Amino acid sequence: MKFFVDTAEIDEIAELNDLGMVDGVTTNPSLILKSGRDILEVTREIAALVDGPVSAEVVALNAEDMIAEGRKLAKIADNIAVKVPLTWDGLKACKVLSSEGNMVNVTLCFSANQALLAAKAGATFISPFIGRLDDINLDGMEVISDIRNIYDNYGFTTEILAASIRSVNHIMESALIGADVITAPPSVIKKLADHPLTDKGLAAFMKDWEKTGQQIL
Ligand code: G3P
Repeated sequence: MKFFVDTAEIDEIAELNDLGMVDGVTTNPSLILKSGRDILEVTREIAALVDGPVSAEVVALNAEDMIAEGRKLAKIADNIAVKVPLTWDGLKACKVLSSEGNMVNVTLCFSANQALLAAKAGATFISPFIGRLDDINLDGMEVISDIRNIYDNYGFTTEILAASIRSVNHIMESALIGADVITAPPSVIKKLADHPLTDKGLAAFMKDWEKTGQQIL
């Protein structure tokens, strides 16, 4: 499973990238706002830092302007994936941009039917938003599972990029279902390492080690 980092904060991306944990990065207008950076500038820096796909989102609402924005974003670097919303216009833009050889990430997906359309429009990635479905008492994981089944039934190569990840369980369940990629905030990725029994075991080892009076260095 590939790990994408859902942030536009360079320092956070760099820290995880040094550990080999970053297979790509996703950004969106809200994350650009949070970073306080210029979209073209920060996207260029991120794309230079990581080897994998870096999603940069268009903000136009009609296909023609989305395509123009997408072409401009794609020129930033070879590893840019143009992110378009799952609307009819977004699907039209997806078809054109992917036909031109660009990676396209179709975002704001909330149903398996939407994911089916994105695959048919040539999307490289489909981004179903798990947390936002859970927020309204729907089952985000069920949507991931349905998309996996549909894509496998028909051999679609669009990668399932589980997004709006809020917890470590979202990551584990996405992995069990077979999502190709998860994108999560750095804080959630770091939490994957946590376990209370690890902390407890380490504390016990440290206590006993102290009693030995030995040193390694
Ligand atoms: O990748 C999409 C993600 O940024 C949305 O997450 O937590 O705002 O629903 P969230």
